[in-house]
Amino acid sequence: MENIRIDQERLWASLMEMARIGASAKGGVCRLALTDLDRQARELFIRWCREAGCAVTIDRFGNIFARRPGRDDALPVVMTGSHLDSQPTGGKFDGAYGVLAGLEVIRTLNDVGYETAAPIEVVVWTNEEGSRFSPPMAGSGVFAGHFDLAYAENQTDEAGETQGGALAKIGFAGDAPVGGRPIGAYFEAHIEQGPVLESEGKLIGVVTGAQGQRWYRVCVTGFDAHAGTTPMPRRKDALLGAARMVAALNEIALATPPDTCATVGALHSHPNSRNVIPGRAEFTVDLRHPDDAVLARLDREVRARFTAIAEELGLAVAMTQDYYAEPVPFAPACTAAVRAAAEAAGYSHRDIISGAGHDAVNIARIAPAGMIFIPCTDGISHNEVEDARPDHAAAGCNVLLAAMTRLADRA
Ligand code: GLV
Ligand code: MN
Ligand code: MN
Repeated sequence: MENIRIDQERLWASLMEMARIGASAKGGVCRLALTDLDRQARELFIRWCREAGCAVTIDRFGNIFARRPGRDDALPVVMTGSHLDSQPTGGKFDGAYGVLAGLEVIRTLNDVGYETAAPIEVVVWTNEEGSRFSPPMAGSGVFAGHFDLAYAENQTDEAGETQGGALAKIGFAGDAPVGGRPIGAYFEAHIEQGPVLESEGKLIGVVTGAQGQRWYRVCVTGFDAHAGTTPMPRRKDALLGAARMVAALNEIALATPPDTCATVGALHSHPNSRNVIPGRAEFTVDLRHPDDAVLARLDREVRARFTAIAEELGLAVAMTQDYYAEPVPFAPACTAAVRAAAEAAGYSHRDIISGAGHDAVNIARIAPAGMIFIPCTDGISHNEVEDARPDHAAAGCNVLLAAMTRLADRA
């Protein structure tokens, strides 16, 4: 198997065809979870998998499993995959690369007529991005028992539609139970989404784990009042409080370098009228650090600073944590297989921690899991200009093929 190579042109052509679904004017993709565009992407994936001879199963939360049987089909599956949903201004590779690299592994095994001992599956996880419905990594989270199915189904988008309702509407609330599929090993190929590999001239990132993250909703309450008649000292301006909190959050992150990441990505001001002092402001916080103890300390600092700002301005603040993922190490058996595959192919590589969340992080809670990163142009992701090179995409897929077959034949 070590000498078999995937088909770079076929992988690239599939990536480009998938990127037509939800294509944006700036060359990216807008394919929010469980929209009609997500349905189209899922249907294209299923068609390709059936053409490759796979049996397709859809679970109740819309996770899709395409299976290529093994010599001993009772062995725990060696699984790979990622997601097809995107950010509102997403790119062509975040998620789709991992899914289509998995499909390319199956197509290559078919081409050479290679039968693995254990079965192989490619999975599409529902709602990885957490953009339309929070929390993120929902499909893999329910599968791994990190979230309840009912909890995930009941999450609503900004228009008030439930995630369960959206699943049913696109016809992807399947019959299979969520979870309970024994996994021998799980691999996920992904663009790095950061600048490290490119700047160091390394081709493969051997991902040893993912950093921890906490997501919050913050609600600042003041008092709606007339913009022209309320003297400055008498105001309870919720948006002013929120603005100071955004700046304070940034200061806290900068004060614990280099690994702290803190972001306010969404903010709503009410009633959002030019001549009304905002009586309410709501915003999100995304806080990340590789060390769980530091992440907990940052949590306490942020809460204390937000409370102090609210008191100073006569406002109330409520901060609710709506997602927490502890830092997760990947399985030595998987990272070793990725490293060995990169070595054997003569690809330069380095160990790396993932700053982004991935479905592999949830699967690592229940099975041996690992990830393969490839460089992305200028380290840019969650942006329509997100880009990667065909030869890099092929290299990551070759590593995926070798790591998967190694573990599928281990049994
Ligand atoms: C997933 O896209 C994340 O926010 O890390
Ligand atoms: Mn992703
Ligand atoms: Mn993403």
